Amino acid sequence: MKGVVFNLFEQFVVENWGEEIYEQILDETTLETTEPFVGPGTYPDGDFLALVVKATEKLNVTVPDAVRAFGKFCFPKLADVFPNFVNMHTHPKAFLKTIDSVIHVEVRKLFKDAQTPSFRYEDPSPEQLVLIYESPRKFYEFVEGLLDGVSDYFKTPIQHSRTICTENGQEFARFELTFGELEPTHS
Ligand code: HEM
Repeated sequence: MKGVVFNLFEQFVVENWGEEIYEQILDETTLETTEPFVGPGTYPDGDFLALVVKATEKLNVTVPDAVRAFGKFCFPKLADVFPNFVNMHTHPKAFLKTIDSVIHVEVRKLFKDAQTPSFRYEDPSPEQLVLIYESPRKFYEFVEGLLDGVSDYFKTPIQHSRTICTENGQEFARFELTFGELEPTHS
């Protein structure tokens, strides 16, 4: 997992619970990595999961809830760092259709060793989109959190439901999305 994800997780804990809690989590977790996590570095997925599990024990929340909240937190931060990926879109559907063919392709060029998931799409109607997510990491709640972050970012409600499927022994998840109307802005 890229250092950028570890750095976002640190920000997530610090902004919500404070620096001291993050330091405690770091001290109390047994990690393979001994040096500080830097954005372009690549670190074991196990270290990331160990930090998440320790944080959930300390904060008394479940792992799926924490991962979902982390995904929601990450989206606006990623959008800030990579404004070009989002600026050209006004609707989340058009944006989401670019994750696999544009965004994660660029991410893999930028970050050596990045392992991004695969997304396939079905487009059943103008207000719907099906995202088919496949990754050995099976970060299903992370996808859900990111989708909530995308919804807030584009001020457009996104209802989503998840179905886990298996084909030829490969597990993947189908996220069926329905987009609502753009939320009116109040002045
Ligand atoms: C500005 C937009 C985005 C950027 C810059 C971005 C970038 C990245 C980066 C750097 C990673 C880490 C790869 C690694 O550690 O090896 C990643 C992973 C991931 N991204 Fe994105 N991403 C974006 C949008 C999205 C969106 C909208 C979704 C889904 C709705 C998504 C789904 C994921 C998932 C699930 C992973 C975890 C790895 C896995 O499941 O195998 N990303 N992305």
